[in-house]
Amino acid sequence: MESFRNKLDKNRIPKHVAIIMDGNGRWAEKHGKARVFGHENGVESVRSVVEGAGEIGVKHLTLYAFSTENWLRPKPEVEALMELLVHAIDNETELLMKNNVRLSTIGDLSKMPVKVKEKLNGCINFLKDNTGLNLILALSYSSKWEIIKAVQNISQDSIEGKIKPEMINDKLFEEYLNTAEIPDPELMIRTSGEFRISNFLLWQIAYSELFFTEKLWPDFRKEDLFEAIFDFQNRERRFGKTREQLTM
Ligand code: IPE
Ligand code: IPE
Ligand code: MG
Repeated sequence: MESFRNKLDKNRIPKHVAIIMDGNGRWAEKHGKARVFGHENGVESVRSVVEGAGEIGVKHLTLYAFSTENWLRPKPEVEALMELLVHAIDNETELLMKNNVRLSTIGDLSKMPVKVKEKLNGCINFLKDNTGLNLILALSYSSKWEIIKAVQNISQDSIEGKIKPEMINDKLFEEYLNTAEIPDPELMIRTSGEFRISNFLLWQIAYSELFFTEKLWPDFRKEDLFEAIFDFQNRERRFGKTREQLTM
């Protein structure tokens, strides 16, 4: 079958794609293994998608790797995920470098184990001058946390006289989010057949196109990303206007 890559309009590649990588546990269960086995196999999917996104010229790729709510999982699973993160950084950094990928994070990094923070910072620093894809890992992230944090900082700046309440508009608000400087995702993908957002980028997806697939994350590959983008390119984004206005 012809690749979706060849069907893509090169001039309309989304600048920012966000992915909720879900279904690792069910994938492991399907293979008669422990949940961690699914997480381990999800790394291959990340590798493929990062490579694919870079190849077609996506500028920002945000991956939901660990949510605020995921801290509530059984301790051994949380620990295994943190260990996996350390290993993945160790194993993937060279390839990221080769592919000209930059790394950044969003989320409450203060909650992460010291070892993970150190690895992350080392990797971010090592890749900082790369000019290709910006890979954004959402770690200990939730949208409500991010929005509350923004409101706290806005209030503080207001008390200190740095801003006035009447200056607060959507543009200023966005400067207080973790995603300041990053354009909103045009496309958000969720794997594993769940139709929910699970506290991910609520503000930023106000006008995103949503793509849901039954595929479990460890089965997802760059070709699936290309398919989602092909689907995206065949949608009409009206932003509240009428179809007639779009051609005007
Ligand atoms: C996604 O897979 C990975 C994380 C949330 C860390 P899950 O672990 O949620 O897998 P399912 O949804 O239980 O199958
Ligand atoms: C969302 O997946 C979070 C990540 C993919 C990191 P979950 O598996 O935690 O979401 P819910 O709880 O099923 O909505
Ligand atoms: Mg899940």
